[in-house]
Amino acid sequence: MPKRNLHLKPFDESTCEKLGLYRDYLREWLPVFIHNQYIDSIQVFDFFAGPGKDVDGSSGSPLITCEEIRQVQNLNGKQYPKIRTFFNEYNSTKFKDLSSCINEQKSSLPEVSFTTMQNDFHSAFEQWKPLMNGNAANLLFLDQNGVNQITKSVFQYIVQHPKTDFLFFISSAMVNRFKKKIQDYVPVTDEDFSRMNGTNVHRIVADAYRRWIPLGLEYYLGSFSIRKGPNVYGLVFGSGHPLGIDKFLKVAWKRGGDANFDIDRDGIDRKQLPLFQEYGKPTKIKVFEKELRSAVLERRLMTNKDVYIFSLQNGMLAAHARDALKMLVEDKTLPKQTFHVSYDAWKKPNAEIIRHFNGGHS
Ligand SMILES: C[S@@+](CC[C@H](N)C(=O)[O-])C[C@H]1O[C@@H](n2cnc3c(N)ncnc32)[C@H](O)[C@@H]1O
Repeated sequence: MPKRNLHLKPFDESTCEKLGLYRDYLREWLPVFIHNQYIDSIQVFDFFAGPGKDVDGSSGSPLITCEEIRQVQNLNGKQYPKIRTFFNEYNSTKFKDLSSCINEQKSSLPEVSFTTMQNDFHSAFEQWKPLMNGNAANLLFLDQNGVNQITKSVFQYIVQHPKTDFLFFISSAMVNRFKKKIQDYVPVTDEDFSRMNGTNVHRIVADAYRRWIPLGLEYYLGSFSIRKGPNVYGLVFGSGHPLGIDKFLKVAWKRGGDANFDIDRDGIDRKQLPLFQEYGKPTKIKVFEKELRSAVLERRLMTNKDVYIFSLQNGMLAAHARDALKMLVEDKTLPKQTFHVSYDAWKKPNAEIIRHFNGGHS
């Protein structure tokens, strides 16, 4: 399979998009734990770290991690849990650059611990995975080349780990190109291939990873497709907690929803989301509104908490769900009522039952 070295040139637009999303998620994730006294440590693992920056000095994932930690410490003063960072890179030249880049960061982050390793991903993962245990909040960034490093056993280890979110990159275009030759590495089926094209490939690939979530485990996956020329790549996000996926989706929707391009050929500028009107709504929102409407009217979703989780599972924000419910009131399908659909409402001990006209709740 072809290998590319993105560090020989300045980062291109698609790499900047990927790293921007990583930065934005870190910026949301770090503050959740910085004042959490029930956590012993905050740990960021970057298993495919690269040299730290590109040839022009633009920040790669290692520098982004340092910058975001510095930012959160400056804003919050004294931190409670210990922050630990882990960077792995197997290429010796890049590892040398990574080591000097990290060394330069240490003096301005005296309370943060840094571990660097030059190893193949799987050996690094075996070595570091015991450190993810205990009472740590972990974020794993897995910026692989290609498609084949995130195996079923790696994926299942991560998803079964509490307080461990991940973001991994996958060259989904390769799945569409190599089809069955790649089925050993990625959980795609023949049915997936029958629906797959160059545009929707990452959506389908990211969704396929649900098959690797052990039965009965409550887990949330998100995805973001990135176009580079004729090819589509993307990120897969995972969290065992609604707040994790909620934050990822907020970051993703600021960047266009589940793609940085017009994935459904809607002809809409996806970055102008607050301006969407009824006739300029992306397909993804329209489809969700229709599904939510049926699920509520058929009483498959009974409460505000059901609706919140349904929206997260469908890659949508609580705000989209509130809009869809309000439309049901406006067109008099449901009686007038206020809908509290949000993470804060989900956290409350009691769920609010959605009222219907026939008087019954069910
Ligand atoms: C897409 S780049 C990562 C870029 C990095 N996140 C950044 O922001 O600059 C992938 C990196 O992983 C390294 N790599 C590729 N295969 C690897 C493996 N099996 N184990 C560890 N590192 C690997 C490559 O040398 C490359 O630097």
